[in-house]
Amino acid sequence: MTAVETRVRLSHAERFGAEGKTYSAPARVNLIGEHTDYTGGLVMPMAIGFRTVASISPRGDGQAVFYSANYKEFRKFDIASLGKAPAGGWVDYAAGVLWSLKQDGISPGGFDMSIEGDVPLGAGLSSSASVEVAVAMAILSRAGVNLPLEKVATLCRRAENEYVGAKSGIMDQFIVAGGVEHRAMMLDCRSLNFDLLPLPAEVRVVIANSMVKHAVATGEYGNRRDEVEAGQAVLRRERPGVELLRDAAVADLEACRDKMSAESFARCRHIITENARVLAAREALLSGDMEQFGDLMIAAHASMRDDFAASCAEVDVLVEIANRQQGCFGARITGGGFGGCTVNVVKTESVEKFVEQVKHEYEHAVGIKADCFVSSPSDGALALAAKGGAA
Ligand code: GLA
Repeated sequence: MTAVETRVRLSHAERFGAEGKTYSAPARVNLIGEHTDYTGGLVMPMAIGFRTVASISPRGDGQAVFYSANYKEFRKFDIASLGKAPAGGWVDYAAGVLWSLKQDGISPGGFDMSIEGDVPLGAGLSSSASVEVAVAMAILSRAGVNLPLEKVATLCRRAENEYVGAKSGIMDQFIVAGGVEHRAMMLDCRSLNFDLLPLPAEVRVVIANSMVKHAVATGEYGNRRDEVEAGQAVLRRERPGVELLRDAAVADLEACRDKMSAESFARCRHIITENARVLAAREALLSGDMEQFGDLMIAAHASMRDDFAASCAEVDVLVEIANRQQGCFGARITGGGFGGCTVNVVKTESVEKFVEQVKHEYEHAVGIKADCFVSSPSDGALALAAKGGAA
C-alpha cells in the first residue's frame, strides 16, 4: 500500500468514525494518438504510478459527504434530489459521477467519502479521470453494484462531458479504469476493443512537466473539437462511407478542402495522419523497433504543433531539447495540449543523464524548472484490501 493509501484509510476513520472501503485509480500518459478519441480513432495510453484514493463508509441520512484532503474542504449533497448543478472546482468531478450513476438508476445509500491524490494537477496527466474513476468505484461498492470497467469508464466520461462540461473523449477514463501493469494499451475508441502491448525493458518512459498549466474544461480544447467536428461533418456529407474521421483518408480530406475552413482542414489532417501513426507505432512496439517508435512520436509532435495548433512555445522547447539528448528515441507533447507534459521514450541506461540534462537546459532556455518523472505502466482502478494489498 502506498503512503497516500495508508493516509487516506487512517484519516478517513478518524474523520468519519468508521473504517472505509478504499479504492484507487491511476493517472495516465498517452504515448501516441492525440485528439483522436472523440472521432472514434486510435490512442495508445498507459496508466502511471500517480493515484487518487477514495475511501467510503455508509451514513444513515441519505446525504453524500465528500472530503478532499488536497483542498481541505467538505461538500455535502442530498442524493435523492441531486441534479445537474456544477459549482466549479474539484467537487464537480465527484458530484458529477454520483449524478451520472443516478442517470443509470444507480442510487447508493448515504455515504461519507475521503478523497486524496498525488496526481499533478493541470499537467495533462488526467487528474480528473483519476478522481472520477476512484469515486465511481467507491460509490458502486456502496450501491452494491458491480459493473465492467468499460461501463465504469463510460459513466465517468458522461460525468465529465455533461456535468463538469468538458467535451473530452473516452481515452482517459478507459485507461484509468482498465490499465494493466507493464503494458501500454492501444484502444480503438469506436469499438472499445483494445490490445495490451509490452514496452521493451531497454526503454523507460519519462514524463516532463513544462509547468505551463492547461485546462481542458475551458477554451481551446473545446474550440479544437468544434473545428474537428465541422470538418468531419463535411466529410460525412461529401464522402460515402465516411461516418467518423476514422474512416477517412487524407485523399478524402483533400477532395473536400474548399468546402471547409483552413483550420478544420488542418485539424482533420492531424487526426487522420495520427490514426495511421498509432497503427504504425503498434507495429513498431510489436517488433521491438524503438527507433521507428520514436520517429513516429517526433512526427506526432510536429502534427500536434503545426496542424492541430495545440502545443505552446515552452513545450516545443522542451521537446526539442529532449530530442537532442543521447538515448532519447522520441519526445512529444501528451494529453489535451496547450501546456502540460511531454512524454519521452528513453534508453534505460541513459535516463538519469537525460533527466538531469533536460531539466538543466529547459531552465536555462525558458527560466522554468521542469519536473521529470520516470514511469512504467501501472494497473488501472483497484480495490484495496482492508489490511493492505489489492482486494
Ligand atoms: C484530454 C481528453 C481526452 C483526449 C485528450 C487528447 O486528455 O480528456 O479525451 O481527447 O485530451 O488526446
